[in-house]
Amino acid sequence: MSTPLPPSRLTGLFRRKNLDDLLLNPPVDADGHSPGGGLARHLTVRDLTALGIAAVIGAGIFSTIGNASHDGGPAVSLLFVFTAVACAFSALCYAQFAATIPVSGSAYTYAYASFGELAAWIIGWALIMEYAVGNIVVAISWSDYFTGLMDGIGVHIPVWLTMGMQSAHKHYNEVLELMQAGKPLADATPTQLAGYQAWAAAPQLPGDLRLVIDLPAGLITLLITAVVYIGIKESKNASNLLVLLKLTVVAVVIGVGVFYVNPGNWSPFAPNGIGGVLKGVSAVFFAYIGFDAISTTAEECKNPQRDLPRAMIYALIICTVLYVIITLVLTGMVSYTELGVGDPLAFVFQKVGLNWLAGVVAVSAIFAMASVLLVFQIGQPRIWMTMSRDGLLPPVFARVHPKFHTPSFSTVVTGFFVGVPAMLLNMDLVIDLTSIGTLFAFALVCGGILIIDPYGKSDARFKVPYINGQFLVPLLMLVGVVLVFTYNQAGLQEFQKALSSGYEEARHYIPMLVFLLFCVALAWLSFRKHLSLLPTLGLLTNLYLMTQLGVNNWLLFFGWLIIGLALYFNYGFKHSKLRLKHMPAGR
Ligand code: ALA
Repeated sequence: MSTPLPPSRLTGLFRRKNLDDLLLNPPVDADGHSPGGGLARHLTVRDLTALGIAAVIGAGIFSTIGNASHDGGPAVSLLFVFTAVACAFSALCYAQFAATIPVSGSAYTYAYASFGELAAWIIGWALIMEYAVGNIVVAISWSDYFTGLMDGIGVHIPVWLTMGMQSAHKHYNEVLELMQAGKPLADATPTQLAGYQAWAAAPQLPGDLRLVIDLPAGLITLLITAVVYIGIKESKNASNLLVLLKLTVVAVVIGVGVFYVNPGNWSPFAPNGIGGVLKGVSAVFFAYIGFDAISTTAEECKNPQRDLPRAMIYALIICTVLYVIITLVLTGMVSYTELGVGDPLAFVFQKVGLNWLAGVVAVSAIFAMASVLLVFQIGQPRIWMTMSRDGLLPPVFARVHPKFHTPSFSTVVTGFFVGVPAMLLNMDLVIDLTSIGTLFAFALVCGGILIIDPYGKSDARFKVPYINGQFLVPLLMLVGVVLVFTYNQAGLQEFQKALSSGYEEARHYIPMLVFLLFCVALAWLSFRKHLSLLPTLGLLTNLYLMTQLGVNNWLLFFGWLIIGLALYFNYGFKHSKLRLKHMPAGR
């Protein structure tokens, strides 16, 4: 599709992959293997939908929804709907790309075809935040549920082996401060107390350090990495089984919980206003991350062009319905004020005296999160494998195991990259980074469709339906402005106050101001160029959600991107196969 650009050092950065080159997919032999060391093709639409659900329903709904509901009240269910709509736009764009370019690599490959090499590298780098960093969150969450469950059955793991050093040190200092202020230990939260005890009881290390590690988080990562290393077929069977179990338990939670709903708890619906609801953006979005992960298995699908788009959309619809119902059931069963806990689904059943069901939920959370770990541990190595095939990473990342037909080296590196930080880091830090990196990738995928197929004219087997955005995009923006002025006066007043309080306060609004400028530019472009409505809305909704993640996360995100760019210019740029192919001899 793209015309090769004249060779120069800089044009190499924006050179796009030709769709025909990308589609030179190795054919499949009678055993379902691609010749020349390719991956094995075993996955059907049902497996893919199951993989999608396996990736989506996990730590988000079992854990982080608690704090989101506590801050936003029952109205968080609407945030789930809004976020699902943003994800649906992105899913449609992912689906078109997956149908057009059915090869491993997901958004990375799509960006290579639409924006060029530099953007592809950036997105590949950002996807590490979704897959590997996201899995650090899930592993830590898994460990919390696992240790709680072990305690419940009388197996007490030493507390200094159940959390990361960073968390323990932070909580230890918080409790010390509390005591220095003359307050009793009872004033500390259970989490702070656990951190304090862990740090105090841990073996001393050289310097001022203590040996506090999250051993279960490390061990579960090791186990999952081993399953993924052995083979996609085994991973698929494990994932299908886990999904079945997970859906059954979610259905039971809803089916039983609904009888304990007291509609009085739904009032007030948004006790802390729009601001309170939006505090949950990161947690709610985290709950949806994963439906896109199945696009990384394109080379292991029996019929990727037909099945990938369907599976992504099926998974998203199923999860959205379940999430909205679960949020309403949770906030209907107990007051939102009590939901600020790490295990809200188990907690609400304890509150209504159904301890056995609380236990079942806790056990199922362990399986649910294990299946999320599984899918993301499958996804990350396949992205690295594709980047390595393109020369942007060293060749060893593309090595496929001769017997298991899996990307062996990349799988092991992913295991280390997830397992070691999961044993040491604090979860709060990694959850926001995961959300910002993933939203960025989603935004680029939507933007990519606007570039390769702005008028819905491609002959892909799945296309985002074309609706002319000429008037609708500006009109919808106008409606947005009217709604903000009508319903969010409090937010506007805070904004005005921040602007007049100096840079320290005002800087928090920088992402939002940049976003507003971008909106104006896109409205103008849609008006002039008749852009396709749905990808445009996808781009805008993802960017909007990014603006809600706080300026400090943006700074960390930029830091991450700068490290990525340094690596690219030192390795990928020099070894890029596309660049070398177009470079005249002697340069
Ligand atoms: N959506 C996945 C989860 O909630 C990442 O665990």
